[in-house]
Amino acid sequence: PQNIGILAMDIYFPETYVAQTELESFDGVSAGKYTIGLGQTNMAFCGDREDIVSMSMNSVQSLMKKYNIPYSMIGRLEVGTETIIDKSKSIKTHLMTLFQEHGNTSIEGVDTYNACYGGTNALFNSVQWIESSYWDGRFAMVVTGDIAVYAKGPARPTGGAGVVAMLIGPNAPLVMEPGIRGVHMENVYDFYKPDGKSEYPYVDGKLSIDCYLRALDRCYANYKAAFERLNQDQNFSMDLVDYCVMHSPYGRLVQKSFGRLFYNDYILSGGNSDESSHKYKDHFQEFNQIGLGKESYGNAKLDQVGLKVTDEHYKNKVIPSMTLSKELGNCYAGSVYGGILSLLSNVNSLVGKRVLVFSYGSGLAATFFSFKGVSTNNPMFPSTENIGKQSNINQRLTNRIKISPPEFTTLLSYREENCSKLSYTPMDSTLNIAIGNYYLERVDDKLIRHYKIK
Ligand code: ACO
Repeated sequence: PQNIGILAMDIYFPETYVAQTELESFDGVSAGKYTIGLGQTNMAFCGDREDIVSMSMNSVQSLMKKYNIPYSMIGRLEVGTETIIDKSKSIKTHLMTLFQEHGNTSIEGVDTYNACYGGTNALFNSVQWIESSYWDGRFAMVVTGDIAVYAKGPARPTGGAGVVAMLIGPNAPLVMEPGIRGVHMENVYDFYKPDGKSEYPYVDGKLSIDCYLRALDRCYANYKAAFERLNQDQNFSMDLVDYCVMHSPYGRLVQKSFGRLFYNDYILSGGNSDESSHKYKDHFQEFNQIGLGKESYGNAKLDQVGLKVTDEHYKNKVIPSMTLSKELGNCYAGSVYGGILSLLSNVNSLVGKRVLVFSYGSGLAATFFSFKGVSTNNPMFPSTENIGKQSNINQRLTNRIKISPPEFTTLLSYREENCSKLSYTPMDSTLNIAIGNYYLERVDDKLIRHYKIK
């Protein structure tokens, strides 16, 4: 099979959101902290009528319907999430409801979790299944996303919610570049969820940002090395990247990280040495001593230089991928895939373009990989523009319902109080569930979860 990649894509997000400007005044922080300081606009959330299962069901059924995909044509289905509702039963098994109704129970794959990285693992497994001797000619589907909620405090505005579904197969308009990946994984406690009775993570915000940046540097160097191994006549740099999509805990971190990639290019090209002809040499040379070491993380001066020299590139190469993350917040495992979907929704043609992708999951697991847009003769999945058009995110985002911060706080408290309760009927109404979508009806005395379609 040739040109394996993303054939189709959609996202489910809750109908409700809270505005970051209103959260700023509700939380009593200075105006601009969440909107400018973090770079966020709105945040999607749901009460206790929705959970990761109902959201994933909605995402899958929407994708299947929009593209008229026969349920029998899925041969692999994997879920990447960190919203765990059962330590044994996978979310994939819940999704089988949709497939067994159509007589298809022959579907490989279960769930993967590692903070925001599970979707990437699921995507890699899917691509590799299609490349392998076990492939039976059918499509793979990756379902990835989360309900990201934090305890009251400075991390709360960096929550979010959404689940992306992707159809993976050959002859795709967005092809994963074969053979080139840059991986970095290590053992850290920057963000983790040791308490099964709470949805809230334990998070060391500052450490998590340092880990993200360290992973960014290492993955970038490894991606560059892999690229140059395969393309021996070409040096890799950000000049070869048309669009860059990154895991987005909040927009400002992505913008700073993008600037840092150019600083990486400068350092990797030899820094201040005579052989370096990096175009931003004059700007970056004062940081030559610190290189990519510890002092370079959270270095306000270096950040400012990176932001300034890449401002124009940021507008052209990154902003088109930021719509969903600015409007929904951090969908954890779904974040970077929401970024890809935003890009497909905001640019006309990706044919011949390289999209560099950075996936980061705390704990930590991270990878740089890339896609190329290609022109296909595939009538069912003709182009990346078609994926953007079908998902219709810009319209759907404006149709949402804004909820006030006090009501948002109450709805989150329902989730907090009732997480893992026996014989439980959700307290939130079903008013904000769209017709045709799944929601949580009740949890019974054996902790079995029951869902209904509105
Ligand atoms: N106007 C403009 N900017 C402002 C204002 C204002 N009125 N007030 C503050 N800011 C800026 C700050 O200067 C800072 O910018 P800087 O980073 O460029 O210095 C930014 O807003 C954030 O302010 P801080 O005081 O640093 O924020 P705080 O420490 O309260 O919280 C944090 C930020 C740590 C990101 C927190 O939200 C958090 O813990 N989030 C969860 C962890 C996270 O997302 N980690 C990222 C990787 S891991 C993952 O994906 C989960």
